[in-house]
Amino acid sequence: MATKISTKTRFPHGAVFLIIFLLLLQPHVSCSRKLLPASADPHSSADPPTDNNGLQQKSCKFDKMFNLGDASSDTGNRVRENQSEIPCSSFPYGITLGRPTGRCSNGLLMIDYFARAFGLPYLNPYEADWEVFDNGVNFAVAGATALPVETLQAKGLPSHKGNTDYWLGTIGIQSLHIATKSSLSVQIERMSTYFNKTCKTRAACKEYLQNSVFFVGNIGETDFNFAFFGLGGSEFVGLTREIVKSIMEGVRAVIRFGATKVIVPGRFPIGCLPMSLNYHNPAEDSPSFYDSNQCLKGYNSWAAHHNEILKVAIEDLKREHPDVTIVYADYYNAYLSLLTNAEKLGFENKFSASCRSGDRFNFSFDKTCGKAESCSNPESYISWDGFTTTQQANKFMVDYLLDSIMPQLNCSS
Ligand SMILES: *[C@@H]1O[C@H](CO)[C@@H](O)[C@H](O)[C@H]1NC(C)=O
Ligand SMILES: *[C@@H]1O[C@H](CO)[C@@H](O)[C@H](O)[C@H]1NC(C)=O
Ligand SMILES: *[C@@H]1O[C@H](CO)[C@@H](O)[C@H](O)[C@H]1NC(C)=O
Repeated sequence: MATKISTKTRFPHGAVFLIIFLLLLQPHVSCSRKLLPASADPHSSADPPTDNNGLQQKSCKFDKMFNLGDASSDTGNRVRENQSEIPCSSFPYGITLGRPTGRCSNGLLMIDYFARAFGLPYLNPYEADWEVFDNGVNFAVAGATALPVETLQAKGLPSHKGNTDYWLGTIGIQSLHIATKSSLSVQIERMSTYFNKTCKTRAACKEYLQNSVFFVGNIGETDFNFAFFGLGGSEFVGLTREIVKSIMEGVRAVIRFGATKVIVPGRFPIGCLPMSLNYHNPAEDSPSFYDSNQCLKGYNSWAAHHNEILKVAIEDLKREHPDVTIVYADYYNAYLSLLTNAEKLGFENKFSASCRSGDRFNFSFDKTCGKAESCSNPESYISWDGFTTTQQANKFMVDYLLDSIMPQLNCSS
């Protein structure tokens, strides 16, 4: 497969670069000015890459895929909304692919690995209207909220009352703003526009979508971040319910369009991410703050709470739509599996950001990736920039998830 290597590289000034060459057949990429060939071209709509990691053997083939979500699955929508506002449009984002693509990682995202596993090319972003959408469309937008922006604003979010139960110290609040209006309902509206143009009638759409798979989420992480800074405990419970409700409205919407296979991801254990850990100091904190994985208990319990409500809602909807396959994707435990198998999977660093600043866990809101000084070999990190995961982590999480998702998709029927 042809690989384009961008020559328009941009790097933070004064960065020290180190080229670490291969251990295996695959090139390992460090944050270097001299780019190594990418193993796959994420903009190619041609054949999905053949790979030897066994993903394709777990059979479930679709001819189209549609995705709604946030930064964890945006393959280039947000950078097209406003390139100057988002670091994911420039290096070191995309470093492993050889160029920035708008993905908020060093390389491929989980949605890319799902596409591979389902026998599809990488999903093109909706905003890239020069692309072909023969195999589906990605509507996800980095920074998107599960709730409409107006709903959040009506609650006074984002604000900074400071929730001292969860946050210690002062917070780099400049990161806390509504970055995009492309919330879940806006993405659904775009999807509706797309299907009205593409397959037009309900009957025709049903046929057009008969061999498609839909992802609704991961989304809601941004809403939670706003809430952590701006709401008290009791309001927080209500918000969790609202977020889940909004995700389920998304699932209902795609079913109305004609979806018959829907995957609904849960939340990641945010208490294990550098962005959360950074606010705490294990050397000073009470050990009771941490669980057996060394993650922050309080944060993880909110994510787990969200997932429990989501699972119940999915079971309810399944009863309403026995003809539709709805599968919960356990992102929470997929992430934990990275931590528990870190050594075996080659992750030398479980809790620090690869694209780093000098702060605790190599993360700082004031100096996020792009503004950071340098970055380490992302192959050996789980976290890319403190918020999002590395390509390597994404690949392993999808491999983990497929074991349970594939059988539940009832592909033979
Ligand atoms: C893009 O973002 C920049 C920086 O925030 C802002 O000045 C500019 O007006 C934005 N452009 C559009 C088209 O929204
Ligand atoms: C798509 O078509 C349906 C049926 O005509 C209509 O109700 C809906 O508003 C349309 N969607 C958009 C986004 O225009
Ligand atoms: C942060 O990065 C530096 C430079 O690679 C490293 O020496 C340090 O151990 C890292 N800190 C943590 C907490 O990972």
